[in-house]
Amino acid sequence: MTCFPFLFSKTSSSSRQNPDNDEDISGIHNVRIYSYRELRNATDNFSPANKIGEGGFGPVYKGQLKDGKLAAIKVLSAESKQGVKEFLTEINVISEIEHENLVKLYGCCVEKDNRILVYNYLENNSLAQTLLGGSHNSIHFDWRARCKICVGVARGLAFLHEEVRPLIVHRDIKASNILLDKDLTPKISDFGLAKLIPANVTHVSTRVAGTLGYLAPEYAIGGRLTRKADIYSFGVLLVEIVSGRCNTNSRLPSNEQFILERAWALYEQNELVGLVDTSLNWEFYAEQACKFLKIGLLCTQESPKHRPSMSSVVKMLTGEMKVDDSRMTKPALISDFMDLKVRKKQESIIDLKTTSTYNTSSASDHQDTTIASAATTTFTTQFDHSM
Ligand SMILES: Nc1ncnc2c1ncn2[C@@H]1O[C@H](COP(=O)(O)OP(=O)(O)OP(=O)(O)O)[C@@H](O)[C@H]1O
Ligand SMILES: [Mg+2]
Repeated sequence: MTCFPFLFSKTSSSSRQNPDNDEDISGIHNVRIYSYRELRNATDNFSPANKIGEGGFGPVYKGQLKDGKLAAIKVLSAESKQGVKEFLTEINVISEIEHENLVKLYGCCVEKDNRILVYNYLENNSLAQTLLGGSHNSIHFDWRARCKICVGVARGLAFLHEEVRPLIVHRDIKASNILLDKDLTPKISDFGLAKLIPANVTHVSTRVAGTLGYLAPEYAIGGRLTRKADIYSFGVLLVEIVSGRCNTNSRLPSNEQFILERAWALYEQNELVGLVDTSLNWEFYAEQACKFLKIGLLCTQESPKHRPSMSSVVKMLTGEMKVDDSRMTKPALISDFMDLKVRKKQESIIDLKTTSTYNTSSASDHQDTTIASAATTTFTTQFDHSM
């Protein structure tokens, strides 16, 4: 076994379980390595009682680490084709990122075939399970809490898009990736993970309808991944937070099933306030709520270049910048695409290209740099001037 003393500069004695291979991993300084044994102990042998969820990456367990900290322990199930160095290089980037609105990655385990991520544990679960979780929701989200969540998520995403190096496109902004701490401060999770799963196990293809409702058409259909695709997803999320409902609900009358369609119809009638969550009992600032919904519509404009940057979104939400909706048009909708996906869950997104009514050529007018969707979420600034 090879020793990696430089890996352990920030670590405790628990980290002295070395990855069992001989790869040269010099240059990776910031990753805390956990032994499999520590994580097994932390989760009571990955017991089902400690399982707190399961997404496309694999099961997530709640655990208590040796230092007493609670952690969310995500066991990546797709057998990673990556070597230790490649994996740790990605983790190294994510480990360095700190922001109030981003979930902190504590470290990882890379023993044998195991690829396990260890995150800060957030007490109040995700927006999907709380705000949008229907009868399971035990938290009341008043208007102030919603404002804080909208602004916090926008700040976290602006940080990923505009401040970290290399810049990061999240690729999967949605309610289940917005976690809440004990004060309902929102934290974006799962950023920077796309490279950690083999290209043939595309996370996107495991989605179900509803999740698809967050995808910008030019990304879902054309595979063009830019920050503007995240901004589209953020716009959908913003409308969800204000309205307290999921982006797609097939139990509603057909003209109300897709939240963006509904928002646009109400906007045209000057009735946007009708979309605000009735559980707020009119205890909200109508003008502010309608402004948030308009920002959601701006973020989901069909042409990526008409969507604002995340730093502009932050300013609009906080009132530092005016919301200019004078040239706003109908948001991009992929409802037909989603409808088909419900019926043919197993089929890949590529198969759906020909059946969508979305006009892919209309997306090609954007100036954004295109990034192969399954391949990467991180990129260097030199590719990014036009985004
Ligand atoms: N840091 C965390 N703190 C608390 N709970 C978490 C944490 N990370 C994940 N979870 C819980 O585990 C669940 C599964 O998370 P995971 O990210 O694997 O899947 P997902 O976000 O639901 O779906 P997808 O894989 O499509 O992103 C989350 O919905 C959340 O309830
Ligand atoms: Mg997630």
